[in-house]
Order: sequence, then structure tokens, then C-alpha cells
Amino acid sequence: MSVSAPLLTIDNLCFDFDGQTEKTVNALELSVKKGEIVCILGASGCGKTTVLNLIAGLLKPKSGSINMHAEAGKKNSIGYIFQSDPLFPWRTVEGNLMLAFDLNKSLDRNRAKETMQQYLSMFHLNSQILTKYPTQLSGGMRQRVSIIQSLMFDPELLLLDEPFSALDYYTKLSLEEEFCQLVKEKNKAAILVTHDIEEAVSMGTRAFIMSGGKLAREFHIKQETQGLDNTRGTEEFAKHYREIWSELKTIISG
Ligand SMILES: Nc1ncnc2c1ncn2[C@@H]1O[C@H](COP(=O)(O)OP(=O)(O)OP(=O)(O)O)[C@@H](O)[C@H]1O
Ligand SMILES: [Mg+2]
Repeated sequence: MSVSAPLLTIDNLCFDFDGQTEKTVNALELSVKKGEIVCILGASGCGKTTVLNLIAGLLKPKSGSINMHAEAGKKNSIGYIFQSDPLFPWRTVEGNLMLAFDLNKSLDRNRAKETMQQYLSMFHLNSQILTKYPTQLSGGMRQRVSIIQSLMFDPELLLLDEPFSALDYYTKLSLEEEFCQLVKEKNKAAILVTHDIEEAVSMGTRAFIMSGGKLAREFHIKQETQGLDNTRGTEEFAKHYREIWSELKTIISG
């Protein structure tokens, strides 16, 4: 696959839940390349989580197509970090991270442990955390563990549904930065649903506003210092923020 070829293409995607009069997703188009973080904003209930569920294969499109152009031989090319905390409270951190490997004995456990250690250090977590239970962790630590859990199979595309919304401001900033670095270093792609315009501007290479079942408006936010909190004071940052907020206000107020 060439460097500029898309990893994911979505064409004319339509979806409605049974009994709905209007389509939740209506002729949606999207194409995502490796190295990109695509952010989706929009009013509550406009269909953002539904789009992620469709991409993850948890819902079936009524029409249109979703194609992953994964590397040859790659099966687990999508990782999903859900809106709610997905960790099992009765398993330790290590038990949660190794869950799939415990269930499927044919997978390479030693390699998985190496991967686990690598991500723990990338997300600034001490390996003492492995014996702890999710309730013994702070919200920021739990969210880091959830992200690592979704990375254990080395997916090419990460889907994130408001992953940092429940965190305090400082934890949120450092996790946003760590996540951007991960996408760059490992050459992955991500689709991030958020209500936070600052998050979209500081993390995204592109941002979309979802409305009427489509990605109705697109903003290009290419910044050299993407993900770093010192972008927040720049005029470029403020300009993107104003543009997105003005459009969102118009859409939300109907
Ligand atoms: N399982 C379901 N059955 C029927 N309708 C549903 C179901 N899940 C979601 N919906 C409806 O589909 C629409 C889109 O929901 P979705 O969860 O995708 O919105 P969202 O944009 O993620 O909202 P939020 O920002 O509040 O998370 C809403 O009107 C919702 O009520
Ligand atoms: Mg949602």
C-alpha cells in the first residue's frame, strides 16, 4: 500500500435504527489515511457513536460501504475505546490487558507481555500497576489502561469515543499529547469523537461537524506541533476554535 493511500474509506453510508423516521446516518462519506487523527464533533444524539459502531462492525450498514484497506495478513486492524470504561473490575490491570490472550491460548503470550511493557512505559505507567484492580486506579490511569488494552493487538485504526471527557484538565492534556505521539510514532490512524473543541483543534489533523446524518463540515487543522499544549495559545489555534464554534453554534441552535 502506498503511503498516501487511504486506510479506511466510507462511501454513501446509511443507517437507521428500527422504527426511526429519519436516518441516523445519511449518505456519509469519509476517508482516513495513516498518521491522521480525524475528530468528529456534533450535537448530542446526532449519530457520532453510531458511526463508530458501524466502522467497528458492531452495527450493520443499511446501505453504502465501509472498507478497511489493512496491511496484508492483519486481522485485528481496528481498536475501539468506548465511551464508558470497558475494564473488568474483578480482573487486575494485567488480567485486563491479557484478557484476549487468556481466552485464546494459541496467541503469543510472551510477545504480548513485551508489547504491554512497551506501552506502559510509553504512557508513563509503572509496572507495579499490573497487580492493581481498576477501582484502585485514578481515572487517568484507568483511561491509559483502556487505551493500552485496545492497542494490544497492534490495530492500525483506533476509534475513540469521548475518551478523555471524564478526566481532570491536566491529565487530559498529557493524555492527549501522549496519544498524538503514539499515532505519529507507530504510524496509526484514529477517529476521535469529542464534544471538546480545544481537544479537536489540538489533536486533530482534520475535524468534522456531524449534522443531518453526514459529516457536514470539514476543517483542516494541520499543525507542526500537533498534540502539544503550547499550540493552545497560538493565533492559529484561536482561529480554528472560533471557526468550529461558530459553525457548531449555528447547527446546534438549529
Ligand atoms: N440502540 C438504539 N436503538 C434505537 N435508537 C438508538 C440506539 N442507539 C442510539 N439511538 C438513537 O440514535 C441517535 C444517535 O445516537 P448516538 O448514540 O449515535 O448519538 P451521539 O452523537 O453519539 O450522542 P452523544 O454525543 O450524546 O454521545 C439518537 O437519536 C439515539 O437516541
Ligand atoms: Mg455518543
